[in-house]
Amino acid sequence: MIISKPPFCPVHFEAPDLLDSGFHASTDMHALWAELRENQPLYRADPGGGREPFWVVTRHEDVSRVLRSHTEFSSRRGTILSILDLNTPDIATDNMLADTDPPRHREFREPLNKAFAPRVVATQEELLRNLARDMLQSALDADVYDIAKSTMMFPMAVTGTLMGLPPESWERLVELVMMTIAYDDPDYSTGSGQATVRQARHELFEYFREEFSSRSRDDADPDVIGTLRAMDLTEGPLSQEQALLNCFVLLIGANVTTPHALCTLFTLWAEHPEQFRAVRENPDLRASCLQELLRWSSPVTALMRYAVTDLELHGRTIRAGEPVSAWLGSANRDERVFKDPYTFDVTRQPNRHVAFGVGPHYCIGAGLAKVGLEIFLDEMLDLVDTVEIAGEVRHVASHFVPGYKNMPVRFTPRKVAAG
Ligand code: HEM
Repeated sequence: MIISKPPFCPVHFEAPDLLDSGFHASTDMHALWAELRENQPLYRADPGGGREPFWVVTRHEDVSRVLRSHTEFSSRRGTILSILDLNTPDIATDNMLADTDPPRHREFREPLNKAFAPRVVATQEELLRNLARDMLQSALDADVYDIAKSTMMFPMAVTGTLMGLPPESWERLVELVMMTIAYDDPDYSTGSGQATVRQARHELFEYFREEFSSRSRDDADPDVIGTLRAMDLTEGPLSQEQALLNCFVLLIGANVTTPHALCTLFTLWAEHPEQFRAVRENPDLRASCLQELLRWSSPVTALMRYAVTDLELHGRTIRAGEPVSAWLGSANRDERVFKDPYTFDVTRQPNRHVAFGVGPHYCIGAGLAKVGLEIFLDEMLDLVDTVEIAGEVRHVASHFVPGYKNMPVRFTPRKVAAG
């Protein structure tokens, strides 16, 4: 996705195909979102090709309402746009954390919250620091280094450890996750979009099935799989299918988002070195810098809900059962909420970004992600002086996460004064 600032080049969007990943990769989405926020705050997208029309909200207030108000907008039929794109029924309804509404949602969320509690996250800090240092050192040792690939392994190593998954499987798991969210990207697809997603899901489910079979319900492993293994729902113990679905959502949630935030950090460092010098000189700015990085990068572009009842918005009626998409990337540049929204400002406060969502489904991994990003920023400040983007940057073709496939960088080391 191209990121620009106003005044935008005029965009032709009489009928933008928001389900077309290629459109996202080649379009200045910020120009489109600015236009929609201003003139069509409730826009009806009709992708054609037998796919269901869906509503599009782009303002911060509307995005927050759609995500927060589960009595008006339900998550049960799926929350990512690819469901519409691929015309697939959602087997996860009421069975996977993300595809439930309260009170069912709490049955999954409360036990899983414990698996991501701050004291658990704290046990991962050393691993995160070592990973960050190794990655930065490899980049410093090389002339030009493609850092996008390494950032993908950063969250995988942590979720892999928290889930108790063997390291030799991590690389393949990352590939399978990419096949799921970027199914029509030529670098990941193995046929049609549907076939690619089916193959990835099949392989992931078989993988987790084996992991599960190797553990008994009485093992009481403190890791995430152990938590799922021991979980009880109102109807009885969590079934194996339900457990697999929840492993799947945790893996997707972690692995595609954090790398995008990290790659955005490198781009920003290259473009605004003075902002990071300011953070180095004043470490109190680290917290606001990270919040601004999250606002700026908005790793999750859009989420979906389905209207529960008929309701009015901006003078139009959304009918019960109709899909509504909420564009987080747009909400995070809404001029009604953010002063100078297209300025990256490490001192920005307040910063009411919605990068982790809002309401009951607020990201369960937010604490882990924040600690990971904070450690990464610390290590960058410690080790790296300048960042140069030293070649062609390539984006993942996806309308879910606008991630990076390649980012050749040249880092210079920080020279620390002797004595
Ligand atoms: C910078 C990193 C991250 C960003 C920007 C991010 C973003 C989000 C957003 C926007 C949601 C809300 C979904 C909704 O409302 O439907 C969400 C939920 C979720 N995230 Fe994250 N996430 C990040 C990291 C992680 C990590 C590290 C994990 C894994 C531990 C994770 C796992 C999940 C899960 C399982 C959910 C569903 C929660 C629920 O339905 O209650 N995320 N995330």
